[in-house]
Amino acid sequence: MIDYHNILERINQTVSKEKDKGKIASYIPELANVDINNFGVHLHLVSGKEYAIGNSEQKFSIQSISKVFSLALAMSHIDTAIWERLDVEPSGNPFNHLSLLELENGIPRNPFINSGAIVIADILVSKLKNPKSDFLDYVREITGDNSIDYNYKVAQSEKETGYTNYAAANLLKSFNNLNNDVDVVLDFYFHQCSLEMSCSQLTKAFYLFANQGECLARKSRLTKSQAKRINAIMLTCGFYDEAGEFAFEVGLPGKSGVGGGIVALLPNEFVISVWSPGLNERGNSKLGMQALEQFTTLANQSIF
Ligand code: DON
Repeated sequence: MIDYHNILERINQTVSKEKDKGKIASYIPELANVDINNFGVHLHLVSGKEYAIGNSEQKFSIQSISKVFSLALAMSHIDTAIWERLDVEPSGNPFNHLSLLELENGIPRNPFINSGAIVIADILVSKLKNPKSDFLDYVREITGDNSIDYNYKVAQSEKETGYTNYAAANLLKSFNNLNNDVDVVLDFYFHQCSLEMSCSQLTKAFYLFANQGECLARKSRLTKSQAKRINAIMLTCGFYDEAGEFAFEVGLPGKSGVGGGIVALLPNEFVISVWSPGLNERGNSKLGMQALEQFTTLANQSIF
């Protein structure tokens, strides 16, 4: 039997000794107000047991982690036709990089870089009746928690400063890879990124990816094959130009966000979420990556 409780305690000890916690993202001004000393972990075994340390119930801005939910919802609406508008290759570049998009004629490398997530947002704006409230309902339903909500101040803050995302959306539009208005798609995208969730809510929401498409409430929301594909994209593209490093150090599919959250999972075994708001120079949580490396090493569990 693996002593998960003891492993999380050891991670907490290591992290609390760490002096360099990274840097809080400030390019979205509203995110800069978070205390860098926050640290939380929540582990949810597919068999049902849960373990937690630190601020695991405190909500934070999930940012790019939301791209996994939008991809899942888009795939449940149009599935394979998505891949006519986007690729599934790692970009080897930062999440907001633009020149590759121009070189590759407006086809984003994958759905987790910003330009790819903006194409997914365009698909959802076309398919959903009330895009923002339907998306929120979807995340609440897979998590089993109606308290989840957008942070409208964060969405507004990004709308006022998101010049690079406006550039990406306009470039996509110029290549005919955006069907709706730039402003409408970005309004949806900024709200999607502003969702606030705790580590404990994130592990519940990601349960379906570890459980072959069936969420905690035992409802099937994705086919086995769709869950497999989303996990594959998380493994190869979930951490942008640090995807190789994450696979090398941690060895799990996962997704990060500039709010300092990371969710990772071992199919059929567990989901784990970590939150530490200080980022490394690649925009991923510095201590979050370290904690997950320590977790898979001590538990001796990874996909490899
Ligand atoms: O579009 C952006 O820049 C943010 N809303 C999300 C970026 C993000 O979280 C990248 N993740 N590490």
